[in-house]
Amino acid sequence: MAKISLPENSKFVKGDYYKSENNNNVKKIKIYRWNPDTKSNPKIDTFEINLDQCGQMVLDALILIKDQVDPTLTFRRSCREGVCGSCAMNIDGNNTLACQKNIKEIKGDISIFPLTHQPVIKDLVVDLSHAFKQLSFIEPWLQNNIGKPTKAEQKQTVNERSKIDGLWECILCFSCTTSCVSYWWNGEKYLGPAALLQASRWVNDSRDQERKKRLKYIEKNSNIHNCHSIMNCSNSCPKGLNPAKAIADLKKQIATNL
Ligand code: SF4
Ligand code: FES
Repeated sequence: MAKISLPENSKFVKGDYYKSENNNNVKKIKIYRWNPDTKSNPKIDTFEINLDQCGQMVLDALILIKDQVDPTLTFRRSCREGVCGSCAMNIDGNNTLACQKNIKEIKGDISIFPLTHQPVIKDLVVDLSHAFKQLSFIEPWLQNNIGKPTKAEQKQTVNERSKIDGLWECILCFSCTTSCVSYWWNGEKYLGPAALLQASRWVNDSRDQERKKRLKYIEKNSNIHNCHSIMNCSNSCPKGLNPAKAIADLKKQIATNL
């Protein structure tokens, strides 16, 4: 029988319970806590919050807890508008954006964990350096008139422009990549859904002159065939994008157009 051994300090210990002074309209929020400075095990703290004093979104609840209950609670956020991608975390079992997840959508207690299968820096903050390094491999910028800067407008037809719809909207929150089972096991080599959707964004841009070079790179170096269309990526994307479709499209272009 297979034996699983857990890394040091990975076993949960009993968390703290923070009771609300008000008993009306109370919601329990259970939050993963881990502080590398104390060298203690992770725990799940439970915070009761009064929904009458809180904004609508899960991020509002986290901000309220940080402001009024525990200032050491650590999480990333910036825009509060679903634009920066920094508040991605696992809420109620799905990777998503805390600023876009309405508290009312969640029945019962709310469980909040860091993005799945990533090294935790502290509490809900994970280290995405590897994912961003992988993004850099696909050279996510327009490559046109290389070495010859031009001030001329780079025009596209309506049809050409429509080919990057569903791709340019990506905000690089990595909810998709970190919910991909293939990425969990092969993330050292497989670039994952977010980087590949970004690759597709440039491959399909009519203004880019390096389409073939990009496709060759993806074919040789991205381990794109680690995508088995499990669809966790598309199901988790808080912007409603479809990385699995973008990956399938890249596979098709590699097979037919190289
Ligand atoms: S495709 Fe969606 S889930 Fe993936 S990084 Fe972009 S916005 Fe986030
Ligand atoms: S805070 Fe910017 S996307 Fe949530």
